[in-house]
Amino acid sequence: MSIAVSTNNNIFLLSTDSTSYAFGIDDRGLVRHLYWGKKIASADELEIPELTEVSTNDPVFEITPEEYPVHGGLRYKESCLKAAFADGTRELVYSFCSYDIENGDGYEELILHLRDERYEFFIDLHYKLYPDYDLMERSAEIKNQSEEPVMIEKFYSAQLHIPYDGLNFSNVHGHWGAEQQRFVQKVSYGKITIENRRGISSHNHNPYFVLDRDAAETTGEVFFGALRMSGNFSGVVEQTPYGETLVQMGLNPHDCLLELAPGQSLVSPAVICGYSDSGFETMSHNLHRFALERVMRKGLRPVLYNSWEATEFNVNSRDQIKLAEQAGELGAELFVLDDGWFGERHSTQNGLGDWYVNEGKFPNGLEELIDAVKAQGMMFGIWVEPEMVNPKSRLYQEHPDWIYHYETRVTDTSRVQYVLNVTKPEVREFIYDMLDNLLTRYDIDYIKWDANRPISQTGPQRDIWYKHIMTVYEVVTELKKKHPDVLFEACASGGGRIDYGILGIFDDFWTSDNTDAFDRLYIQDAYSRIHPIKGMRAWVTDCPNFLSGRVIPLTFRFHSAMMGSLGIGCNILKFTEEEKELSKEMIRQYKEIRPIIQEGVFYRLDNPSPNPYFLYEYLKDDSGVIFAFLPQSKVGHRGTRVRLRGLDSQALYTLRLKDGDITKSGGYLMNRGIDLKLNGDYASAVIKFEKSS
Ligand code: DGJ
Repeated sequence: MSIAVSTNNNIFLLSTDSTSYAFGIDDRGLVRHLYWGKKIASADELEIPELTEVSTNDPVFEITPEEYPVHGGLRYKESCLKAAFADGTRELVYSFCSYDIENGDGYEELILHLRDERYEFFIDLHYKLYPDYDLMERSAEIKNQSEEPVMIEKFYSAQLHIPYDGLNFSNVHGHWGAEQQRFVQKVSYGKITIENRRGISSHNHNPYFVLDRDAAETTGEVFFGALRMSGNFSGVVEQTPYGETLVQMGLNPHDCLLELAPGQSLVSPAVICGYSDSGFETMSHNLHRFALERVMRKGLRPVLYNSWEATEFNVNSRDQIKLAEQAGELGAELFVLDDGWFGERHSTQNGLGDWYVNEGKFPNGLEELIDAVKAQGMMFGIWVEPEMVNPKSRLYQEHPDWIYHYETRVTDTSRVQYVLNVTKPEVREFIYDMLDNLLTRYDIDYIKWDANRPISQTGPQRDIWYKHIMTVYEVVTELKKKHPDVLFEACASGGGRIDYGILGIFDDFWTSDNTDAFDRLYIQDAYSRIHPIKGMRAWVTDCPNFLSGRVIPLTFRFHSAMMGSLGIGCNILKFTEEEKELSKEMIRQYKEIRPIIQEGVFYRLDNPSPNPYFLYEYLKDDSGVIFAFLPQSKVGHRGTRVRLRGLDSQALYTLRLKDGDITKSGGYLMNRGIDLKLNGDYASAVIKFEKSS
């Protein structure tokens, strides 16, 4: 039993294998937070403190931690829910009514029913507990059962309380080509906000919070949560003057107004939250395992070849077939035809929206390429950007009213494209039918769904920011029902849609257009903190890299990309014999270790030396892999020591080192560790190991 209710029925203790979360209902019907942290045994030991004002200027709502503070009364901190009733009342007054407990497959769920004291307006707070993963999903549902519409100005999923000051907050910042740049900042008095207002992208921040008390990889307390939302989200961290830190996450209230019609209800995106007293590693492990086992589609991801960097818009059947033949020979399992195959798409200037095969480029139809791909035993994938249209396209000429715009303003273009108002039923139908036809007519196994600009000029409706992304989710979900074997890659100008909202609906993330193998180490490290390795698409591309201009040896480029779901994006027709042989060998090696990489446990290892080593370990059952990178070394550098984690200390493990095998105990490898020295710049090594029988 994960949910315990105290004997007098007013305290709820929610427990997972190692953590507990508690709140109580006071005599006014307020839901008051009591505890979040390491596991405690009994709900009966918890008490609800009496509510007293510090002073008349510090009202009780400011002092007491509420589970779901609403806008109204003497509340001045951030609220989770702000509603306006038809008669002009703009405050909620809730109290607790009852609760339900439901059991599902591997989870238990508590639903608290709250209601407004005057209006037929109801709030359900959901707490879904996954004991095996030490995770809890929180969300809220609001229901309008009155005769009038209710306008929702703010709808957050949850508030969480951490009973400390001076925490560290970490997230990522960035932009196109430089996503997932981790930052850590001290929380002090005042607020920190992370958000996305662009509707389309999470290039700049990611919808999650990590708050720690000077934690390290394997030590210290960490409180975290990831919001299941790819559209406009916001998260606020607030250190109050009353000795605690609050976090709230949910739909971004910026330019957002949702109408709840009579009889309507709305469910917020869930926040997957957890607590670790053993550092960031436990956080990542719990989230990764949850993603792999409960969110993502099962099965290993294929080794992909994508022709974008090789040909860009210069696509034609002959060259793509040559690339496909070469990709097949190297060992790729999936060939993805990127942008440029449709309409009059010769550059960013035109074609988007006209999803018919360009006859000039494919005189014998797409079938010719697909047959060649399938003849290599590969799967076939194709790029689309369904939410967008170029001004120069048939679609736009026929339906100028299908885009977000204002009649009295010049419509914004970005990458020479407009955004379709996918929330219009006819536009949604067009997108669904276009993709359904494509998938029905052609033997397609993989869709790369791109979105290359932010949304703007959304018109009079202020619910678009929410409804747009929900429509994308719904269209893909529906398509998958009809075409269940097709894999979907979430791409938005690189890593613009990486989050737990899209994960599970889509299958892979395009991590970044920055394919520089060195930059990728930072991007991948930050990505790995929250998101699962299997979802991380990583390509080997040509040098000098188109963004960084860097020239990096092919082995290092492969090793960097082998840390996730491997892809190749080089112009492989220009490969030398040596490059071909090396690529074949690397792809072969990757396939051998792929289950460990994609479905194993991932460790960010400590580098105890002053040399800039990046060290990682993957472990699955009795087999493991170490990745070591040394981007630069100084003459005379003395190497590093690699101490593994997660091994059985009594068992023996054999490491396949370059100079021969060594066998050591798990205890030795985890405590003493092995000495490793790489030489030169952009040096790297992949070391396999397994438990000796
Ligand atoms: C942006 C993506 O991130 C790239 O991989 C590529 O698909 C281009 N769009 C195509 O226009």
